[in-house]
Parts: sequence; C-alpha cells; structure tokens
Amino acid sequence: MACTQGRTLHSLPCAISMTSRLFLWLSLWFSMYSALVAAYYQVPPTGYASMTHYDLPLNDIAACGCTGASTHFPTAAIAQIAYGSTDQYGPSCGVCFNLTLLNAPLSNPPFFPDTNPSIVVKVTDLCPAISEWCNATVGHPNPFEHLINFDLAYPSPAVPSSFFPQNVSEYGYTDFGVWNISYEIVTCTPNWAGSSTPAAMGSVTNLGDSVCCPGDVTSNNTCPSFSESSNTAPSDYWDIICITFVI
Ligand SMILES: *[C@@H]1O[C@H](CO)[C@@H](O)[C@H](O)[C@H]1NC(C)=O
Ligand SMILES: *[C@@H]1O[C@H](CO)[C@@H](O)[C@H](O)[C@H]1NC(C)=O
Ligand SMILES: *[C@@H]1O[C@H](CO)[C@@H](O)[C@H](O)[C@H]1NC(C)=O
Ligand SMILES: *[C@@H]1O[C@H](CO)[C@@H](O)[C@H](O)[C@H]1NC(C)=O
Ligand SMILES: *[C@@H]1O[C@H](CO)[C@@H](O)[C@H](O)[C@H]1NC(C)=O
Repeated sequence: MACTQGRTLHSLPCAISMTSRLFLWLSLWFSMYSALVAAYYQVPPTGYASMTHYDLPLNDIAACGCTGASTHFPTAAIAQIAYGSTDQYGPSCGVCFNLTLLNAPLSNPPFFPDTNPSIVVKVTDLCPAISEWCNATVGHPNPFEHLINFDLAYPSPAVPSSFFPQNVSEYGYTDFGVWNISYEIVTCTPNWAGSSTPAAMGSVTNLGDSVCCPGDVTSNNTCPSFSESSNTAPSDYWDIICITFVI
C-alpha cells in the first residue's frame, strides 16, 4: 500500500506549468472523489457477478472474524469494492447471498449448462483488489464486466463437486474456474445451510472489537468499514495523498 507503489509521479518534470499543475490538481481531486465513492459502493440487492474459488482451510478464521465453524458451510470472499473495506471486517461481512451459476464464458466453446444450480453462501472474507477479478472500481469492471466477484471457498465439504454443472465428454475437465452468475441478497436464516448451527453463526467473541460477523445481517447491525473506522483509507486514497504530497 501507499507511497512506494503504483501511480506516484516522482518523475514529473520540474518545469511543469502552473496551468498543468492546476489541471493535475483538479484531476487528482476528482480521482480522490472517485476513490471515496468507490469505498462507499452499495451492493445492489440483486444483480450479476462473477464467481471464482479459493482455498480456505477448514476451521480458519477469515477476514470478518466469523467463527471457524462457519467454514463447514458454504462461505465466500467478496471483491473489495463490495466488501467495503481494505482490511479486517467490512459492511458485507455476515451477509448471505443466493448465487446462481449461469455460464462459464472462458471455456472453449463457452459452456452454457442445461441447469442453473444455486447455492446460498455467507460472506466471511475479503477478496483483496490484487486480482483482476476482485479489483473492479466504479467505471472499471472486471473481465466479465462486473463490479462484484464472489470467491467461493472450494473445495469444501460444504460444496460437493457435483454442485457444478459439467460435461467431461466435451471439455475433458470438470472445473471451469470462473463462472458468470446472478446473485440475490437473502436472509441467512433459514436460507444458509449453517443457520441452524449456532456455532457457525456470528463472530469469534474472544477477538473482541477487531471482528464483525453478524449471524444474520439486519438494517441495524451491518458491520461498518474497518478501514474507515480505523483511519486506514483504501489504497487508491493513499496513492492520491502521496501524489498530492509529491506535487
Ligand atoms: C485489475 O488488474 C488487472 C490485471 O492486473 C489490470 O489489467 C486492471 O487494469 C486492473 N483494474 C483496475 C480497475 O485497477
Ligand atoms: C454473463 O451473463 C449475463 C446474463 O446471462 C450476460 O448478459 C453476460 O453477457 C454474461 N457475461 C459474459 C462475460 O458472458
Ligand atoms: C455434452 O456435450 C456434448 C457435445 O456438445 C452434447 O452432445 C451433450 O449433450 C452434452 N452433455 C451434457 C450432459 O450436457
Ligand atoms: C436462489 O435463486 C434461485 C434462482 O433464482 C431460486 O430458484 C431459489 O429459490 C433461490 N433460493 C433462495 C434460498 O432464495
Ligand atoms: C434492530 O432493529 C430491529 C427491527 O427493526 C429492532 O427490533 C431491534 O430492537 C433493533 N436493535 C437495536 C440494537 O437497535
């Protein structure tokens, strides 16, 4: 994060004119505004997204601080813009989403399955903006033209491989890697498979204030953005501060 990487302008010519400087300042403030807008992105209740998968060891406590028992049920990390924080917990922590697989456009030919299975996941982790699937910002969507990516914890005993449509005779493999999906926010209770297991709902209490994972998110127990409440701005924001300082 911050001053050593990215878009700092250390090589800016010294002879740059005042007009250019003013223009730069204006565009920088606009970028900062965009970065802040991005930080406050509200996840629409329904929409399209992409879905990848990642290894989350069973019983691990991921970024939200949801209990390790949650990993025995379907969970996912969500792209940083939708997670709403760059670190620890964010407003999407604990929210349950019904994900429906639509197609796998990266395979050749693109795979359009006969069935469109759905799974309800609970968000327990951050998919950081370091991969092309999770680094979308408003106006800069990911390769499937979506802002949101769900990174499903898979393989997992909670998600059988038979959940995924496949056609081995045509493709020769079963894992399509990235799916184009639709999603809908749902209540965790009773839709999430872990909702009737109290140990799987909620935060790890002995971690105190550093975690936030409501068992079921309602309008008045949404997690705040850890990045904002601890004055850790999104990385774009720091880049802009650094650029401003350099100029
Ligand atoms: C996301 O990452 C990809 C690959 O590193 C890059 O090409 C793309 O410009 C990045 N997108 C944004 C919005 O930063
Ligand atoms: C993803 O699916 C939606 C809905 O079927 C479609 O509009 C969109 O073009 C698809 N995206 C890709 C990259 O195939
Ligand atoms: C698999 O693909 C082949 C060739 O396109 C097709 O004939 C067959 O019906 C497909 N099977 C399934 C289960 O989709
Ligand atoms: C999930 O979405 C699918 C497809 O729209 C729907 O058939 C199913 O009932 C939904 N499940 C829940 C729990 O909302
Ligand atoms: C949260 O909202 C619910 C329903 O509106 C209400 O019953 C409950 O008392 C509220 N809880 C707090 C802590 O404000």
